[in-house]
Amino acid sequence: LTEKDLMGEHILVTAGPTREPFDPVRFITNYSSGKMGYAIATVARRRGATVTLVSGPTHLSVPSGVEFLSVSTAREMRDAVLANLPEATVVIKAAAVADYRPAVREPQKIKKKDDDLTVKLERNPDIIQEIGKKKQNRILVGFAMESEHLVENAIAKMVGKNMDFIVANDLTKQGAGFQGDTNIISILDRDGEFQELPLMDKIEAAAIILDKVRKIRNSQLNN
Ligand code: PMT
Repeated sequence: LTEKDLMGEHILVTAGPTREPFDPVRFITNYSSGKMGYAIATVARRRGATVTLVSGPTHLSVPSGVEFLSVSTAREMRDAVLANLPEATVVIKAAAVADYRPAVREPQKIKKKDDDLTVKLERNPDIIQEIGKKKQNRILVGFAMESEHLVENAIAKMVGKNMDFIVANDLTKQGAGFQGDTNIISILDRDGEFQELPLMDKIEAAAIILDKVRKIRNSQLNN
């Protein structure tokens, strides 16, 4: 029997990629499958939390007992997250949000010409940064997906965006990051604690991330 140690928490999880269209049939996206975020939602629910899952397009089935919000673009994800933020006691941002979107979304399919095509990209909102600004007692967990300088970049993201801890995955390692059922994660927190974990199933990694949430909540309650 799983211990219901997250009962009383309302955990908002984001998962999957975003899609940024430049015409009705084409878009920019990334390789996120949603597996990491769905694993967190699944384990959090099993452990008694109320869970809201905001997800970009994936092929996964919705974990049972979870409130599910389907979105496509980064701006839709931002709106869904902010609308559900007031109830959330924990936010875990496992989604791979596109940092840029095409500046213009053409209403009709772009026709092929003999010339090259240039598409201008503009910045998307940084969702986690916005949440960090209205943090209150909420526990905020981010991810860092890096292909170099993993630890330095992760620490900079955690501090700059007011996260309680960050889960870093190294895209250059076999079995880590996108698509697969496994991940290799490191957890870095504000006290300088650094937990480097071996290759494991995303469900197991989710359980360790949620243990860390629980630990931070306990230390808040004891202070
Ligand atoms: O979905 P899977 O196939 O299982 O793959 C899992 C994963 C690799 C996608 C996941 O483990 C992961 O690392 N997710 C975060 C990917 C990412 O966008 O990292 P980043 O370093 O670009 O962003 C840092 C943090 O800011 C992330 O928590 C991200 O959700 C958030 N962010 C980023 C950009 C943006 N515009 N808004 C955000 O909130």
